[in-house]
Amino acid sequence: MSTSAELEALYAKIYGLHMEGGWHRKAPALWPEPRANFHPNLWRYRDVKPILEQAGGLVDHRMADRRNLTMTNPVEGNLYSTVRTLVAAYQSIKPGEQAEAHRHTPSALRIILEGQRSFTVVNGTRVEMRPGDVLLTPSWSWHSHEAVGPDDCFWVDVLDVPLVHLLEPMFFERHPDKFEAQVSDAQEAPIAFRWTDSLRRLDASAAAPAHGTAEREIELGAPAMKTIAIHVQRMSAGFASATHRSTANAIYTVLDGEGTTRAGEREMHWQLGDVFAVPAWQAYRHEVSRDAHLVRVSDEPVMRAFDLLREQNL
Ligand SMILES: [Fe+2]
Repeated sequence: MSTSAELEALYAKIYGLHMEGGWHRKAPALWPEPRANFHPNLWRYRDVKPILEQAGGLVDHRMADRRNLTMTNPVEGNLYSTVRTLVAAYQSIKPGEQAEAHRHTPSALRIILEGQRSFTVVNGTRVEMRPGDVLLTPSWSWHSHEAVGPDDCFWVDVLDVPLVHLLEPMFFERHPDKFEAQVSDAQEAPIAFRWTDSLRRLDASAAAPAHGTAEREIELGAPAMKTIAIHVQRMSAGFASATHRSTANAIYTVLDGEGTTRAGEREMHWQLGDVFAVPAWQAYRHEVSRDAHLVRVSDEPVMRAFDLLREQNL
């Protein structure tokens, strides 16, 4: 038997044991730097809002736990995630509707876009959701929503569901009584970051935060949740950020203003309510044409916790 025939026979034995030799892998296990897997992508609120409004007439909360539209990254083979570890969704609730309580191991947050007099109940605390507010639903917290005023309410959800998919510990349950029995109203709560407070903090913050990725920046919580960081950024008309990249995966929500973000090969022109994805290690740069506030939601705490956070200006 020739040496190569002997080697082939050896490989057949190795594969037969469901093993692979590290010296002849079918695909490399290590590579020099992060690959560009997920795509930068933009979802426009003006495209989505009419669809949510139409769905509001066709799909009520008795048919669906939540009337939401998840933003699926257009990378081939992806069925759900917005970036590797996070998913974003637009969600609406109509006057008089109540979304029943449930809880899940994935952590979630809501960034409110439009509508007055809607409320969320998180572990028995009921808080109003107002435009610009960011509300948290940490892992395994009961949460339900309701709109009691005349407005439809629209918001952006961001959850770490794809991370939980990767790690496997998914648990989900509906509240046995549909809603929590003991509920108390609160103006302030640790899970509620008010827009008025964010504006005040931005006014008082130092100009030119680290890396020059925004004009001013504050963090909500430190971090907001164990797997998710939330930064509110301010950039005025004419501002151009540094070109930057980070191993953290990020999803931006536009609260006001207008601008363009170049990320990887994509150029994304955004305005109020738009959401865009900047996946890990994609070089990006913002240029602002109208005074803007963005909410940057990222998996930075995960990267930091495991010594995987690397950031770089180019
Ligand atoms: Fe939920």
